[in-house]
Amino acid sequence: MSSGHSGRRETTNKIFFASSDDTKICVVMVGLPARGKSLIAGKALRYLAWVGIPARIFNVGSYRRQGNPHPQAAFFDPSNAEGERMRRAAAEAAISDMLRWFKESNGTVAILDATNSTKARRRWIHESCAAAGIETLFVESSCDDEDIIMNNILEVKTTSPDYVGQDPEVAALDFRNRIRNYEKAYETIDEAEKHYTYVKLINVGSTVIINQIKDYLSSRLVYYIQNLHIRPRSIWLSRHGESEYNLEGKIGGDASISERGEAYARALPELLRKSGVPAGAKLTIWTSTLKRTIQTARHLIAETGYDKLEWKALDELDSGVCDGLTYEQIAEKYPEDFAARDEDKYNYRYRGGESYRDVVIRLEPIIMELERSENVMIVTHQAVLRCIYAYFLNTSQEQSPWMEVPLHTLIKLTPRAYGTEEQRFKADIPAVSTWRGKGTSAKHQEVPEEMKHK
Ligand code: SIN
Repeated sequence: MSSGHSGRRETTNKIFFASSDDTKICVVMVGLPARGKSLIAGKALRYLAWVGIPARIFNVGSYRRQGNPHPQAAFFDPSNAEGERMRRAAAEAAISDMLRWFKESNGTVAILDATNSTKARRRWIHESCAAAGIETLFVESSCDDEDIIMNNILEVKTTSPDYVGQDPEVAALDFRNRIRNYEKAYETIDEAEKHYTYVKLINVGSTVIINQIKDYLSSRLVYYIQNLHIRPRSIWLSRHGESEYNLEGKIGGDASISERGEAYARALPELLRKSGVPAGAKLTIWTSTLKRTIQTARHLIAETGYDKLEWKALDELDSGVCDGLTYEQIAEKYPEDFAARDEDKYNYRYRGGESYRDVVIRLEPIIMELERSENVMIVTHQAVLRCIYAYFLNTSQEQSPWMEVPLHTLIKLTPRAYGTEEQRFKADIPAVSTWRGKGTSAKHQEVPEEMKHK
Protein backbone atom coordinates (compact mmCIF):
# COMPACT_ATOMS: atom_id res chain seq x y z
CA MET A 1 0.00 0.00 0.00
CA SER A 2 1.26 3.43 -0.75
CA SER A 3 0.76 6.31 1.59
CA GLY A 4 -2.55 8.15 1.74
CA HIS A 5 -3.72 10.08 -1.25
CA SER A 6 -7.02 11.74 -1.93
CA GLY A 7 -9.76 9.40 -3.09
CA ARG A 8 -7.37 6.55 -3.75
CA ARG A 9 -8.96 3.12 -3.65
CA GLU A 10 -7.39 0.14 -1.96
CA THR A 11 -8.65 -3.01 -3.52
CA THR A 12 -6.28 -5.74 -2.44
CA ASN A 13 -7.06 -8.04 0.45
CA LYS A 14 -3.42 -9.09 0.72
CA ILE A 15 -3.04 -6.34 3.30
CA PHE A 16 -4.39 -8.93 5.71
CA PHE A 17 -2.96 -12.09 4.41
CA ALA A 18 0.20 -11.05 2.63
CA SER A 19 1.37 -14.24 1.02
CA SER A 20 3.73 -14.71 -1.86
CA ASP A 21 1.27 -16.94 -3.69
CA ASP A 22 -2.44 -16.98 -4.32
CA THR A 23 -3.30 -19.54 -1.69
CA LYS A 24 -6.77 -21.04 -1.94
CA ILE A 25 -8.01 -23.08 0.96
CA CYS A 26 -10.77 -25.58 1.54
CA VAL A 27 -11.58 -25.66 5.24
CA VAL A 28 -12.96 -29.17 5.78
CA MET A 29 -15.10 -29.47 8.90
CA VAL A 30 -14.88 -32.85 10.65
CA GLY A 31 -17.01 -34.12 13.52
CA LEU A 32 -20.12 -35.91 14.67
CA PRO A 33 -23.43 -34.04 14.46
CA ALA A 34 -24.07 -31.55 17.32
CA ARG A 35 -20.39 -30.71 17.81
CA GLY A 36 -20.73 -27.06 16.81
CA LYS A 37 -19.29 -27.44 13.29
CA SER A 38 -21.85 -25.17 11.64
CA LEU A 39 -21.35 -22.58 14.37
CA ILE A 40 -17.57 -22.55 13.78
CA ALA A 41 -18.10 -22.48 10.00
CA GLY A 42 -20.53 -19.55 10.27
CA LYS A 43 -18.23 -17.54 12.50
CA ALA A 44 -15.21 -18.19 10.30
CA LEU A 45 -17.22 -17.02 7.29
CA ARG A 46 -18.21 -13.81 9.08
CA TYR A 47 -14.60 -13.15 10.08
CA LEU A 48 -13.37 -13.72 6.53
CA ALA A 49 -16.04 -11.43 5.08
CA TRP A 50 -15.08 -8.75 7.61
CA VAL A 51 -11.41 -8.84 6.62
CA GLY A 52 -12.36 -8.84 2.93
CA ILE A 53 -11.51 -12.43 1.93
CA PRO A 54 -13.91 -14.00 -0.63
CA ALA A 55 -15.32 -17.01 1.20
CA ARG A 56 -18.32 -19.31 1.02
CA ILE A 57 -19.81 -22.24 2.94
CA PHE A 58 -20.77 -25.44 1.09
CA ASN A 59 -23.11 -27.39 3.35
CA VAL A 60 -23.46 -31.03 2.32
CA GLY A 61 -26.71 -31.39 4.30
CA SER A 62 -28.43 -28.83 2.08
CA TYR A 63 -27.38 -30.79 -1.04
CA ARG A 64 -28.68 -34.02 0.55
CA ARG A 65 -31.98 -32.29 1.41
CA GLN A 66 -32.63 -31.81 -2.33
CA GLY A 67 -33.08 -35.61 -2.54
CA ASN A 68 -34.28 -36.33 0.97
CA PRO A 69 -35.54 -33.30 2.92
CA HIS A 70 -36.62 -35.02 6.16
CA PRO A 71 -34.66 -38.27 6.56
CA GLN A 72 -35.09 -40.45 9.61
CA ALA A 73 -32.11 -41.62 11.65
CA ALA A 74 -31.93 -44.95 9.75
CA PHE A 75 -30.96 -43.06 6.60
CA PHE A 76 -27.60 -42.32 8.26
CA ASP A 77 -26.87 -45.92 9.28
CA PRO A 78 -23.62 -46.92 7.49
CA SER A 79 -25.25 -50.26 6.59
CA ASN A 80 -28.02 -48.44 4.68
CA ALA A 81 -26.73 -48.75 1.09
CA GLU A 82 -29.25 -46.35 -0.44
CA GLY A 83 -28.57 -43.78 2.29
CA GLU A 84 -24.81 -44.12 1.70
CA ARG A 85 -25.27 -43.65 -2.06
CA MET A 86 -27.37 -40.52 -1.61
CA ARG A 87 -25.00 -39.05 0.96
CA ARG A 88 -22.01 -39.69 -1.29
CA ALA A 89 -23.89 -38.03 -4.20
CA ALA A 90 -24.62 -34.98 -2.02
CA ALA A 91 -20.94 -34.68 -1.06
CA GLU A 92 -19.89 -35.02 -4.71
CA ALA A 93 -22.32 -32.28 -5.78
CA ALA A 94 -21.06 -29.97 -3.01
CA ILE A 95 -17.42 -30.54 -3.92
CA SER A 96 -18.05 -30.08 -7.60
CA ASP A 97 -19.86 -26.75 -6.97
CA MET A 98 -17.06 -25.72 -4.63
CA LEU A 99 -14.33 -26.41 -7.23
CA ARG A 100 -16.34 -24.47 -9.83
CA TRP A 101 -16.69 -21.58 -7.39
CA PHE A 102 -12.92 -21.47 -6.80
CA LYS A 103 -12.34 -21.40 -10.54
CA GLU A 104 -15.09 -19.13 -11.79
CA SER A 105 -15.65 -16.74 -8.90
CA ASN A 106 -12.05 -16.42 -7.81
CA GLY A 107 -12.94 -17.69 -4.35
CA THR A 108 -10.21 -17.81 -1.69
CA VAL A 109 -11.65 -19.86 1.18
CA ALA A 110 -14.39 -22.48 0.91
CA ILE A 111 -15.75 -24.10 4.05
CA LEU A 112 -17.04 -27.62 3.50
CA ASP A 113 -19.57 -28.04 6.29
CA ALA A 114 -20.26 -31.76 6.74
CA THR A 115 -19.32 -34.56 9.10
CA ASN A 116 -16.48 -35.86 6.86
CA SER A 117 -16.22 -38.52 9.47
CA THR A 118 -14.16 -41.26 7.82
CA LYS A 119 -10.55 -41.37 6.71
CA ALA A 120 -11.66 -42.50 3.23
CA ARG A 121 -13.92 -39.43 2.86
CA ARG A 122 -11.12 -37.10 3.97
CA ARG A 123 -8.60 -38.72 1.61
CA TRP A 124 -11.00 -38.26 -1.29
CA ILE A 125 -11.57 -34.56 -0.42
CA HIS A 126 -7.85 -33.98 0.01
CA GLU A 127 -7.09 -35.58 -3.37
CA SER A 128 -9.88 -33.71 -5.17
CA CYS A 129 -8.66 -30.38 -3.79
CA ALA A 130 -4.96 -31.11 -4.41
CA ALA A 131 -5.75 -31.94 -8.06
CA ALA A 132 -7.29 -28.46 -8.39
CA GLY A 133 -4.38 -26.71 -6.63
CA ILE A 134 -6.37 -26.06 -3.45
CA GLU A 135 -4.92 -26.52 0.05
CA THR A 136 -6.99 -28.36 2.63
CA LEU A 137 -7.30 -27.39 6.28
CA PHE A 138 -9.20 -29.99 8.32
CA VAL A 139 -10.96 -28.61 11.39
CA GLU A 140 -12.18 -31.39 13.69
CA SER A 141 -14.53 -30.50 16.50
CA SER A 142 -14.63 -33.32 18.99
CA CYS A 143 -16.63 -33.05 22.14
CA ASP A 144 -17.58 -35.31 25.03
CA ASP A 145 -19.04 -32.58 27.23
CA GLU A 146 -22.69 -33.65 27.60
CA ASP A 147 -23.86 -30.08 28.33
CA ILE A 148 -22.42 -28.76 25.08
CA ILE A 149 -23.86 -31.69 23.09
CA MET A 150 -27.27 -31.28 24.74
CA ASN A 151 -27.31 -27.54 23.92
CA ASN A 152 -26.45 -28.29 20.32
CA ILE A 153 -29.17 -30.93 20.09
CA LEU A 154 -31.71 -28.43 21.46
CA GLU A 155 -30.55 -25.91 18.86
CA VAL A 156 -30.76 -28.43 16.01
CA LYS A 157 -34.19 -29.75 16.87
CA THR A 158 -35.60 -26.24 16.86
CA THR A 159 -33.70 -24.75 13.91
CA SER A 160 -32.74 -27.54 11.48
CA PRO A 161 -34.76 -27.73 8.24
CA ASP A 162 -34.51 -31.54 8.65
CA TYR A 163 -36.99 -31.36 11.53
CA VAL A 164 -39.19 -28.49 10.51
CA GLY A 165 -42.81 -28.95 11.64
CA GLN A 166 -41.98 -31.99 13.79
CA ASP A 167 -42.65 -32.56 17.45
CA PRO A 168 -39.47 -31.27 19.16
CA GLU A 169 -39.23 -34.30 21.44
CA VAL A 170 -39.54 -36.75 18.53
CA ALA A 171 -36.97 -34.66 16.63
CA ALA A 172 -34.53 -34.75 19.57
CA LEU A 173 -34.86 -38.54 19.89
CA ASP A 174 -34.36 -39.06 16.16
CA PHE A 175 -31.37 -36.73 16.16
CA ARG A 176 -29.76 -38.70 19.02
CA ASN A 177 -30.25 -41.89 16.98
CA ARG A 178 -28.75 -40.19 13.96
CA ILE A 179 -25.67 -39.36 16.05
CA ARG A 180 -25.44 -43.02 17.16
CA ASN A 181 -25.44 -44.10 13.51
CA TYR A 182 -22.63 -41.69 12.71
CA GLU A 183 -20.68 -42.97 15.72
CA LYS A 184 -20.62 -46.48 14.19
CA ALA A 185 -18.35 -45.30 11.38
CA TYR A 186 -16.64 -42.28 12.93
CA GLU A 187 -12.85 -42.09 12.72
CA THR A 188 -11.10 -39.24 14.48
CA ILE A 189 -8.09 -37.61 12.80
CA ASP A 190 -5.00 -39.41 14.10
CA GLU A 191 -1.33 -40.20 13.43
CA ALA A 192 -2.20 -41.87 10.13
CA GLU A 193 -3.29 -38.46 8.83
CA LYS A 194 -0.34 -36.47 10.11
CA HIS A 195 0.56 -35.40 6.56
CA TYR A 196 -2.61 -33.24 6.51
CA THR A 197 -2.90 -29.69 7.78
CA TYR A 198 -5.37 -29.90 10.62
CA VAL A 199 -6.61 -28.43 13.84
CA LYS A 200 -8.44 -30.54 16.42
CA LEU A 201 -10.64 -28.66 18.85
CA ILE A 202 -11.55 -30.68 21.90
CA ASN A 203 -14.57 -29.46 23.87
CA VAL A 204 -14.76 -26.16 21.96
CA GLY A 205 -11.25 -24.93 22.42
CA SER A 206 -10.37 -26.27 25.88
CA THR A 207 -7.66 -28.36 24.17
CA VAL A 208 -6.36 -27.57 20.69
CA ILE A 209 -4.02 -29.70 18.59
CA ILE A 210 -2.50 -28.04 15.52
CA ASN A 211 -0.63 -29.90 12.79
CA GLN A 212 1.38 -28.79 9.76
CA ILE A 213 0.17 -25.24 9.18
CA LYS A 214 2.02 -24.08 6.07
CA ASP A 215 0.75 -20.68 5.02
CA TYR A 216 -0.19 -17.35 6.58
CA LEU A 217 -3.87 -17.48 5.68
CA SER A 218 -4.29 -20.90 7.35
CA SER A 219 -2.42 -19.71 10.42
CA ARG A 220 -4.72 -16.67 10.77
CA LEU A 221 -7.77 -18.89 10.39
CA VAL A 222 -6.48 -21.41 12.93
CA TYR A 223 -5.63 -18.61 15.36
CA TYR A 224 -9.16 -17.27 14.98
CA ILE A 225 -10.83 -20.67 15.34
CA GLN A 226 -8.79 -21.65 18.39
CA ASN A 227 -9.89 -18.47 20.19
CA LEU A 228 -13.62 -19.23 19.86
CA HIS A 229 -15.63 -20.25 22.87
CA ILE A 230 -19.35 -20.76 23.49
CA ARG A 231 -19.64 -19.65 27.11
CA PRO A 232 -22.61 -17.26 27.44
CA ARG A 233 -21.58 -13.61 27.48
CA SER A 234 -22.48 -10.18 26.12
CA ILE A 235 -20.55 -7.32 24.61
CA TRP A 236 -21.64 -3.75 25.28
CA LEU A 237 -20.72 -0.96 22.89
CA SER A 238 -20.96 2.75 23.55
CA ARG A 239 -19.60 5.85 21.93
CA HIS A 240 -18.00 8.38 24.28
CA GLY A 241 -20.34 11.01 25.70
CA GLU A 242 -20.89 14.08 23.55
CA SER A 243 -17.58 15.97 23.23
CA GLU A 244 -16.66 19.63 22.87
CA TYR A 245 -15.66 18.85 19.28
CA ASN A 246 -19.09 17.27 18.65
CA LEU A 247 -20.67 20.54 19.73
CA GLU A 248 -18.55 22.48 17.27
CA GLY A 249 -19.14 19.94 14.50
CA LYS A 250 -15.41 19.16 14.29
CA ILE A 251 -13.99 15.72 13.59
CA GLY A 252 -10.96 14.03 15.19
CA GLY A 253 -8.95 15.72 17.92
CA ASP A 254 -8.67 14.83 21.58
CA ALA A 255 -11.38 17.01 23.11
CA SER A 256 -12.98 16.51 26.51
CA ILE A 257 -16.61 15.55 26.90
CA SER A 258 -19.23 18.32 27.11
CA GLU A 259 -21.57 18.88 30.06
CA ARG A 260 -24.13 16.59 28.43
CA GLY A 261 -21.36 14.08 27.76
CA GLU A 262 -20.50 14.17 31.46
CA ALA A 263 -24.18 13.59 32.30
CA TYR A 264 -24.06 10.50 30.07
CA ALA A 265 -20.88 9.31 31.81
CA ARG A 266 -22.66 9.60 35.15
CA ALA A 267 -25.74 7.81 33.80
CA LEU A 268 -23.74 4.93 32.31
CA PRO A 269 -23.47 2.71 35.44
CA GLU A 270 -27.27 2.68 35.81
CA LEU A 271 -27.81 2.21 32.07
CA LEU A 272 -25.49 -0.79 32.08
CA ARG A 273 -27.25 -2.26 35.12
CA LYS A 274 -30.61 -1.80 33.42
CA SER A 275 -29.35 -3.56 30.30
CA GLY A 276 -29.00 -6.74 32.37
CA VAL A 277 -25.52 -7.64 33.56
CA PRO A 278 -25.84 -11.09 35.15
CA ALA A 279 -25.45 -10.94 38.94
CA GLY A 280 -21.83 -11.42 39.99
CA ALA A 281 -20.62 -11.38 36.37
CA LYS A 282 -17.07 -10.31 35.63
CA LEU A 283 -16.86 -7.52 33.11
CA THR A 284 -13.91 -5.64 31.65
CA ILE A 285 -14.14 -2.11 30.29
CA TRP A 286 -12.09 -1.22 27.25
CA THR A 287 -11.54 2.36 26.12
CA SER A 288 -9.36 4.07 23.55
CA THR A 289 -6.44 6.20 24.68
CA LEU A 290 -8.34 9.43 23.91
CA LYS A 291 -9.68 11.64 26.68
CA ARG A 292 -13.34 11.49 25.70
CA THR A 293 -13.63 7.70 26.08
CA ILE A 294 -11.61 7.58 29.30
CA GLN A 295 -13.74 10.37 30.79
CA THR A 296 -16.94 8.58 29.69
CA ALA A 297 -15.93 5.32 31.40
CA ARG A 298 -14.48 6.76 34.58
CA HIS A 299 -17.63 6.81 36.77
CA LEU A 300 -18.53 3.34 35.60
CA ILE A 301 -15.10 2.04 36.59
CA ALA A 302 -15.13 3.90 39.92
CA GLU A 303 -18.61 2.69 40.86
CA THR A 304 -18.33 -0.92 39.79
CA GLY A 305 -14.65 -1.68 40.30
CA TYR A 306 -14.60 -3.46 36.94
CA ASP A 307 -11.17 -3.94 35.36
CA LYS A 308 -10.23 -1.49 32.62
CA LEU A 309 -7.97 -1.61 29.62
CA GLU A 310 -6.93 1.25 27.31
CA TRP A 311 -6.27 0.27 23.70
CA LYS A 312 -4.51 2.47 21.13
CA ALA A 313 -6.20 0.27 18.51
CA LEU A 314 -9.56 1.66 19.68
CA ASP A 315 -8.60 5.29 18.87
CA GLU A 316 -10.84 7.04 16.34
CA LEU A 317 -10.19 6.79 12.59
CA ASP A 318 -7.32 9.17 11.86
CA SER A 319 -8.66 11.94 9.64
CA GLY A 320 -5.14 13.19 8.73
CA VAL A 321 -5.09 16.74 7.36
CA CYS A 322 -8.84 17.03 8.08
CA ASP A 323 -8.36 16.50 11.81
CA GLY A 324 -10.05 19.36 13.67
CA LEU A 325 -12.13 20.53 10.69
CA THR A 326 -15.91 20.53 10.29
CA TYR A 327 -17.47 18.68 7.33
CA GLU A 328 -18.29 22.07 5.80
CA GLN A 329 -14.64 23.10 6.00
CA ILE A 330 -13.52 19.78 4.50
CA ALA A 331 -15.95 20.22 1.59
CA GLU A 332 -14.61 23.72 1.02
CA LYS A 333 -10.87 22.97 1.38
CA TYR A 334 -10.78 19.49 -0.16
CA PRO A 335 -13.87 19.22 -2.41
CA GLU A 336 -12.47 16.29 -4.41
CA ASP A 337 -11.71 14.36 -1.26
CA PHE A 338 -15.14 15.03 0.09
CA ALA A 339 -16.76 13.66 -3.05
CA ALA A 340 -14.35 10.70 -3.24
CA ARG A 341 -15.17 9.77 0.34
CA ASP A 342 -18.89 9.75 -0.44
CA GLU A 343 -18.22 7.64 -3.50
CA ASP A 344 -16.39 4.86 -1.64
CA LYS A 345 -16.31 5.62 2.05
CA TYR A 346 -14.91 2.23 3.11
CA ASN A 347 -11.79 2.53 0.99
CA TYR A 348 -11.27 6.28 1.05
CA ARG A 349 -8.19 7.18 3.06
CA TYR A 350 -7.87 10.72 4.45
CA ARG A 351 -4.68 12.46 3.31
CA GLY A 352 -2.13 11.49 5.93
CA GLY A 353 -4.79 9.52 7.77
CA GLU A 354 -6.78 6.30 7.59
CA SER A 355 -9.61 4.60 5.74
CA TYR A 356 -12.25 2.32 7.26
CA ARG A 357 -10.31 -0.55 5.71
CA ASP A 358 -7.21 0.57 7.65
CA VAL A 359 -9.25 0.67 10.85
CA VAL A 360 -10.46 -2.90 10.29
CA ILE A 361 -6.82 -4.01 9.96
CA ARG A 362 -5.83 -2.47 13.25
CA LEU A 363 -8.96 -3.85 14.93
CA GLU A 364 -8.14 -7.45 14.05
CA PRO A 365 -6.30 -8.08 17.39
CA ILE A 366 -9.27 -6.52 19.19
CA ILE A 367 -11.63 -9.00 17.52
CA MET A 368 -9.31 -11.91 18.39
CA GLU A 369 -9.19 -10.77 22.01
CA LEU A 370 -12.97 -10.23 22.07
CA GLU A 371 -13.50 -13.80 20.86
CA ARG A 372 -11.33 -15.09 23.72
CA SER A 373 -12.99 -12.87 26.33
CA GLU A 374 -16.28 -13.06 28.19
CA ASN A 375 -18.25 -9.91 29.19
CA VAL A 376 -16.66 -6.77 27.75
CA MET A 377 -17.88 -3.19 27.51
CA ILE A 378 -16.18 -1.07 24.84
CA VAL A 379 -16.31 2.72 25.00
CA THR A 380 -14.97 4.01 21.74
CA HIS A 381 -15.56 6.22 18.71
CA GLN A 382 -18.08 6.30 15.86
CA ALA A 383 -15.96 4.82 13.04
CA VAL A 384 -14.34 2.19 15.29
CA LEU A 385 -17.68 1.21 16.72
CA ARG A 386 -19.13 0.83 13.21
CA CYS A 387 -16.33 -1.59 12.33
CA ILE A 388 -16.74 -3.69 15.49
CA TYR A 389 -20.51 -3.71 15.06
CA ALA A 390 -20.13 -4.76 11.42
CA TYR A 391 -18.09 -7.79 12.52
CA PHE A 392 -20.78 -9.02 14.92
CA LEU A 393 -23.78 -8.18 12.74
CA ASN A 394 -22.18 -9.16 9.43
CA THR A 395 -22.76 -5.73 7.88
CA SER A 396 -21.31 -5.24 4.41
CA GLN A 397 -18.28 -3.03 3.80
CA GLU A 398 -20.45 -0.78 1.67
CA GLN A 399 -23.04 -0.22 4.41
CA SER A 400 -20.97 -0.19 7.58
CA PRO A 401 -19.37 3.29 7.22
CA TRP A 402 -22.83 4.83 6.83
CA MET A 403 -24.48 3.22 9.84
CA GLU A 404 -26.04 5.54 12.35
CA VAL A 405 -24.60 4.98 15.82
CA PRO A 406 -26.12 7.68 18.01
CA LEU A 407 -24.40 9.26 20.98
CA HIS A 408 -25.68 8.46 24.49
CA THR A 409 -26.92 5.01 23.53
CA LEU A 410 -25.71 1.69 24.91
CA ILE A 411 -25.73 -1.26 22.52
CA LYS A 412 -25.78 -4.77 23.97
CA LEU A 413 -24.75 -7.63 21.69
CA THR A 414 -25.30 -11.22 22.77
CA PRO A 415 -23.79 -13.94 20.56
CA ARG A 416 -26.19 -16.82 19.97
CA ALA A 417 -25.58 -20.10 18.15
CA TYR A 418 -26.69 -18.74 14.79
CA GLY A 419 -26.19 -14.97 14.92
CA THR A 420 -25.94 -12.04 17.30
CA GLU A 421 -28.84 -10.61 19.27
CA GLU A 422 -28.90 -6.82 19.61
CA GLN A 423 -30.57 -4.52 22.13
CA ARG A 424 -30.24 -0.73 22.38
CA PHE A 425 -30.65 1.30 25.57
CA LYS A 426 -30.98 5.06 25.19
CA ALA A 427 -29.98 7.38 28.00
CA ASP A 428 -32.46 10.20 28.16
CA ILE A 429 -29.74 12.81 27.64
CA PRO A 430 -29.77 14.90 24.46
CA ALA A 431 -26.72 15.15 22.22
CA VAL A 432 -25.95 16.63 18.82
CA SER A 433 -26.29 14.22 15.94
CA THR A 434 -22.95 13.45 14.30
CA TRP A 435 -24.42 11.40 11.47
CA ARG A 436 -24.18 12.54 7.85
CA GLY A 437 -25.93 10.54 5.14
CA LYS A 438 -24.33 9.70 1.79
CA GLY A 439 -24.62 12.56 -0.70
CA THR A 440 -26.13 14.89 1.88
CA SER A 441 -24.95 18.43 2.53
CA ALA A 442 -21.58 18.81 4.17
CA LYS A 443 -23.20 20.69 6.98
CA HIS A 444 -22.75 19.12 10.38
CA GLN A 445 -25.61 19.25 12.87
CA GLU A 446 -26.65 22.76 13.84
CA VAL A 447 -25.31 23.38 17.34
CA PRO A 448 -27.91 24.67 19.78
CA GLU A 449 -27.16 28.31 20.63
CA GLU A 450 -27.08 27.68 24.39
CA MET A 451 -24.39 25.00 23.97
CA LYS A 452 -22.03 27.02 21.82
CA HIS A 453 -19.72 28.50 24.42
CA LYS A 454 -19.89 25.88 27.12
C1 SIN B 1 -26.34 -34.49 6.03
O1 SIN B 1 -26.77 -35.21 5.15
O2 SIN B 1 -27.08 -33.90 6.82
C2 SIN B 1 -24.87 -34.27 6.22
C3 SIN B 1 -24.08 -35.26 5.54
C4 SIN B 1 -22.78 -35.46 6.30
O3 SIN B 1 -22.05 -34.52 6.46
O4 SIN B 1 -22.55 -36.54 6.79
